[in-house]
Amino acid sequence: MKKLIGFGVIALSLAVAGSALAADGAATYKSKCSPCHGAEGQGSAMAPAFTKNAFVKDSKEADIAAVIKNGRSGAAKKYKNFAIDMPKQATLDDETVKAVVAHLKTLAAK
Ligand code: HEC
Repeated sequence: MKKLIGFGVIALSLAVAGSALAADGAATYKSKCSPCHGAEGQGSAMAPAFTKNAFVKDSKEADIAAVIKNGRSGAAKKYKNFAIDMPKQATLDDETVKAVVAHLKTLAAK
């Protein structure tokens, strides 16, 4: 019985940690990404949308994370209709980038 209670506590704390991570992704998106990509990922005159975005939908987490961490500029730019670069997000740690990628995936699924 003691064992079962212990397992329950671990499962509960994992669930709480999981939701904290998701919340962090949304919060980081709101403060660092939404000014260009839109609050709901709808895009803007400055940057592409994430809703129905094939790159975000189909790419591996690591490939999306690389764009976020390194940015996209010069010859690497994909969208010629947006004059500015995707600025590299050097201040975000790996866990935060991971959480943001998960948030982008939810936006792309809309
Ligand atoms: C100053 C405006 C700006 C900010 C802030 C910004 N981006 Fe971008 N982002 C861009 C632009 C412009 C592009 C298009 C680059 C190109 O031409 O390939 C882009 C492209 C991307 C792409 C690739 C999309 C695709 O279809 O290939 C991803 C992923 C991305 N941004 C994620 C983020 C995330 C996550 C954040 C916040 C941490 C963020 N961006 C913040 C301007 C911005």
